Amino acid sequence: MDDLDDLARFHGDPEVVRYVPWPVRDRAATEETLRTKLEQTVLDEHGQWLVLAVELRSTGTVIGEVLLKWASDRQGELGFAFGRDHHGQGYAAEAARAILGLAFDDLGFHRVSATVVEGNDASVRLLGRLGFRQEARHVDGEVFKGSWITVLHFALLEDEWTARISRPS
Ligand SMILES: CC(C)(COP(=O)(O)OP(=O)(O)OC[C@H]1O[C@@H](n2cnc3c(N)ncnc32)[C@H](O)[C@@H]1OP(=O)(O)O)[C@@H](O)C(=O)NCCC(=O)NCCS
Repeated sequence: MDDLDDLARFHGDPEVVRYVPWPVRDRAATEETLRTKLEQTVLDEHGQWLVLAVELRSTGTVIGEVLLKWASDRQGELGFAFGRDHHGQGYAAEAARAILGLAFDDLGFHRVSATVVEGNDASVRLLGRLGFRQEARHVDGEVFKGSWITVLHFALLEDEWTARISRPS
């Protein structure tokens, strides 16, 4: 709960939430979701999400979060969101690699997927750096925040992850 102010700063930023499924949140709404996140500390059933805070080591400030869902079988879904002051410095990539390590190396997942709203170019570049392959592009694939959007589907398999970490780019 000590991280609430840091979280509220980026959960309340319309630019940060533009391509994520949540609305712009005020402090009270951010607190409500933080309570849920704090209750979910392990992944032991399909459908559960683990949300990890990303701290700047030098200050302890929470600058973003990475999410892993146990979707089904040994499959996961990845998500990430960072405050705008901390974009473009490699922090999201570092944090995403940490949670992918948890997914593949610790939890033994076979496949991790990610979906992106077309137009979210920073996310597409990040997934590319992490080694994800684009598998599909669904034109007007869903209604998102009141409009039809094109959805890009990406995935990374455990052997691709293993090859990647032995040969980092
Ligand atoms: C998606 C998001 C997490 C990407 O963050 P990001 O900061 O661009 O990603 P990275 O941490 O990988 O940073 C890489 C960028 O930093 C640059 N960079 C600068 N210094 C760096 C360093 N020391 N190490 C690595 N990259 C560095 C890279 O060149 C790269 O820039 P580029 O994308 O213009 O080529 C961020 O845009 C975000 O939070 N968006 C809002 C939420 C959102 O849309 N989430 C995704 C929903 S699917």
